[in-house]
Amino acid sequence: MNKSYIGIVAILSFILIACQKKEEASKVSDRKQLFTENWKFYKNDTIKSLNEALNANAWQAIDLPHDWSVYQEFDENSSAGIGGGALSGGVGYYKKSFNIPVEDSTRLHKIQFDGVYQNSEVWINGSYLGKRPNGYIGFEYDLTPYLNFGSKDNTIVVKADNSDQPNSRWYSGSGIYRNVWLKKLSKIHIPNWGTFITTPNISEKKALVNITAEIKNEFAKDKEIEVQVTIFQDDQEIVKSETSALSITANSAINFNKEVTILNPKLWLVDSPSLYKAQIDIIQNKNRIDRFETSFGIRDFEFDLEKGFILNGKSQKIRGVCMHHDLGPLGAAINIRAIERQLEILKEMGVNGIRTAHNPPAPELLDLCDQMGFIVMDEAFDIWTTAKTKHDYSQYWDKWHEQDLSDLIKRDRNHPSVFMWSIGNEIQEQWSNKGAKIGVELSNIVKGLDSTRPVTAGMNPPVHVSDKEVTIQFEETADKPNSLAGSGALDLIGYNYAHQTWEKHQLNFPNTPFIATETTSGLQTRGYYEFPSDTTKIWPVRWDKVFTGGNPDQTISAFDQVRTPWGSLHETSWKIIKKNDFLSGFFIWTGFDYIGEPTPYEWPSRSSYFGIVDLAGFPKDVYYMYKSEWTDEDVLHLLPHWNWEQGQTVDVWAYYNNADEVELFLNGESKGSKSKKGEELHVMWRFPFQPGTLKAVSRKNGRVVKETEIKTASKPAKIELSADRKELQANGLDLSFVTVNITDAKGILAPRANNQIDFEIEGPGKIVGVASGDPTNHESFKGKSHRALNGKCLVIVQSTKQTGEIIISANSTGLESKSTVLTSN
Ligand code: GAL
Repeated sequence: MNKSYIGIVAILSFILIACQKKEEASKVSDRKQLFTENWKFYKNDTIKSLNEALNANAWQAIDLPHDWSVYQEFDENSSAGIGGGALSGGVGYYKKSFNIPVEDSTRLHKIQFDGVYQNSEVWINGSYLGKRPNGYIGFEYDLTPYLNFGSKDNTIVVKADNSDQPNSRWYSGSGIYRNVWLKKLSKIHIPNWGTFITTPNISEKKALVNITAEIKNEFAKDKEIEVQVTIFQDDQEIVKSETSALSITANSAINFNKEVTILNPKLWLVDSPSLYKAQIDIIQNKNRIDRFETSFGIRDFEFDLEKGFILNGKSQKIRGVCMHHDLGPLGAAINIRAIERQLEILKEMGVNGIRTAHNPPAPELLDLCDQMGFIVMDEAFDIWTTAKTKHDYSQYWDKWHEQDLSDLIKRDRNHPSVFMWSIGNEIQEQWSNKGAKIGVELSNIVKGLDSTRPVTAGMNPPVHVSDKEVTIQFEETADKPNSLAGSGALDLIGYNYAHQTWEKHQLNFPNTPFIATETTSGLQTRGYYEFPSDTTKIWPVRWDKVFTGGNPDQTISAFDQVRTPWGSLHETSWKIIKKNDFLSGFFIWTGFDYIGEPTPYEWPSRSSYFGIVDLAGFPKDVYYMYKSEWTDEDVLHLLPHWNWEQGQTVDVWAYYNNADEVELFLNGESKGSKSKKGEELHVMWRFPFQPGTLKAVSRKNGRVVKETEIKTASKPAKIELSADRKELQANGLDLSFVTVNITDAKGILAPRANNQIDFEIEGPGKIVGVASGDPTNHESFKGKSHRALNGKCLVIVQSTKQTGEIIISANSTGLESKSTVLTSN
């Protein structure tokens, strides 16, 4: 054979092998892709058949995630009720056509939905794939047997039925509101949620990491494979295992197990949440045919009967907040930047814990909690067998609870941020034998899949009402087996409210540690204040009585002075948690306001008053009380604003830290120095109002720590815009949250301005949400105009896939307009 011929053959075979390798590698790297673009949507509540929907003309082009309810008008008579946010549900259809290349015809194709609200049904090319009632859980279908490969298109159709209302006590949103993924897999692969990584033995010097993976063989033949595990820390390879040879019989699955040791591990801490990645490669005939990556953390924790929550050997209070899943003006449709912004605002306040009230969260929330350092209480259910609203999950309980709970645990058990599982919130059966029985069943399901985390439940105590008094008796069923609390199902006794009983916990439950799963339920409208500020209002007066009080405009004072009868003022609950080591922490109801449940009011209110931060993401004043207690940053926050009637008696509060006194000056004249005494968390002055400048100076040992000023504003004159990010990624998903401040001519915030703000946008961006934090506003969150609340308003801008400059302008009759430029790259 001639030499040059041999040379050419060698080069060609080299290229061929290189190409094959590349192809294999790309096959593995496109294993899971977002499948959210170019869908079509059609809403119709009355048609009877799928065909009728498919033949309709009114299909609208959309991208997912998508929540159709947030586009509806607020309606007092909405079937979801005011509790559900006065936004209706109905029936929606989604479809998408897509093409699969012939070269992928040997691969398996699966579709994964992270959550569809609710009662989803899915068809591929006319074949029915299944139904999933639960609106919060992720699920997957195998498309492979029904697909066309090559030039012929495939069509996937999804029906979401949220028409039976009410089915939720809060705003649920409707439709495919979470991400969808297309997966292309080798017939031998690790299935969805198929790994479990634990760290059973941790010291400063080394950590033992236990990795379990299910490996499936969907070939009709037995197969020989090799498996290799590589561990990464910050994208740097730190451990590579020898390959392990395995055989898998046809159409079966095996459990692969490997222990690896990581030297000098970087522990996952709330302040420095170090993450590792385990990469599992499946190799067949020297080709890599599957790669599955699992992010994990190394941390050690316990809930101690005396010392409370201990993370990596150090006691730490859980300073948590409860969060519903909606993203305010964006509705329920998930967006990573929107979740990240919420978490940034909470982190800045000193929050270190999130409770996913009262359902499985978006997977992206947990990824962010892993990366940003939050202690998550991951909750499964708000209802078991007994309904709280007419059409809720209780009707699906018998058939679905086991699968829904198991899927939640399998999905979330590798997240280092998840520290406890909640099997339910204020379950109606909780104080009965039935509750004990179901609790034990659920706890066993959890333990069968993950025994590394405690099981808890948010339990509200039995309440006794007599003519004279209302008493709360959390203890009465303690340690008795005829209740969830006494059944042994719970590793942590979870208190919803009942702060009066927390200090008796060790007497009532001597063997089970404490967590306050839900507390406070204080009520506030951002920027609205009432005097005197030191009287407490209980709104409603009793939970079982219709509320007839309150203010005609449905405002609530933002001094920490209004609470629900079952809850407490913010300061009250925190003081108890703070001074008792054995109280491991709490989750305040709520971090952010949410759509729905506008306690204590009914219509025209349509969203909550509980948030420490309002629906637009603007902190209410009590945010700074927590910040002064929970962070080391110097805080000196004054409230209220400084626009009152001449001579009116006003109260001034200061939240402060890192100082031993605060002196207040009005127009240069001292109003005296004050210091927090004993357990106090704020100081207060009372005197007649005069316009001008109110200045506070905090001092430690005579040295100035911080100064804060607020000034009387004259009439509203200008708009100021500030974007939380000026630079966006041109990926069609990124967001900039632009705050509108209405100020007087000198730039002082006009604290009572409620001007109508009209927005315009130019360039490669879209307005995707507007809000002000006013629970009574009925303008659409999806409009381009919104009335400000107490000087503030928000517009949310989303990038497109085009780069360029985005100009966002805000105009209002009688005010100087303003625009700001964002850059999308
Ligand atoms: C709790 C309940 C929450 C919310 C809250 C309002 O009892 O668990 O979902 O309704 O009350 O205060």
